[in-house]
Amino acid sequence: MAKQAEELGADAIVCTNSIGPGMLIDTKTAKPKLGIKGGGGGMTGKAIFPIALWCVHQLSETVSIPVVGCGGIFTADDVIQMLMAGASAVQLYTAPALKGPTVFRRVKAGLQRFLDENPKYASVKDLVGLTLDKTGEHKFSSPRPVVIEEKCTGCGICIQSCAFDALSMVRSADGKALAVIADNCISCNACVGVCPPKFDAIKASF
Ligand SMILES: Cc1cc2nc3c(=O)[nH]c(=O)nc-3n(C[C@H](O)[C@H](O)[C@H](O)COP(=O)(O)O)c2cc1C
Repeated sequence: MAKQAEELGADAIVCTNSIGPGMLIDTKTAKPKLGIKGGGGGMTGKAIFPIALWCVHQLSETVSIPVVGCGGIFTADDVIQMLMAGASAVQLYTAPALKGPTVFRRVKAGLQRFLDENPKYASVKDLVGLTLDKTGEHKFSSPRPVVIEEKCTGCGICIQSCAFDALSMVRSADGKALAVIADNCISCNACVGVCPPKFDAIKASF
């Protein structure tokens, strides 16, 4: 459909809109909570960000016209991911609706901070599509992730997240609690995803 839109003269494509419908139920009344007839509702905001990001990435590989990334963007990091996936502009709805219009100031400041910390990028334009040539080499069974000892606080969130019981807590020589990854790790990288960004203590190895 995107290809056809391009062939028929579309200048750009916004991707996505709300996704779904989805459903939520008020357990006190057993009634549906969301808004449309029949009890479903369009899903927006954080819940749809990974789906929207994937769609932007797929679309950016398919068409040459600009893609506007939309769906679940709240932070500068979300914007950067959308740009890296191939978007050349972004749209926010739920974030300013829930947090107020100052979200735009925070996102802009966050983008500037990212550029200051990464001087190899002269502008956010340099981020557009950076991930497109990196997805081919990305494999599920990559080398297993690595716990960075100095950063690990022993919070244990990664252990809870591991469906393969490949993570456990040990004491380091100085008595500090530390997560370790065993040989039965299948490199799903769930632990990388759940390690709180403020610790950033588990790195993927691919
Ligand atoms: C309350 C509400 C009303 C919306 N109305 C429209 C609309 O009239 N037309 C439209 O194309 N998209 C509409 N959207 C979808 C948004 O433009 C946006 O595509 C979607 O919410 C995903 O982005 P977000 O996660 O940043 O909100 C609406 C979204 C919400 C939450």
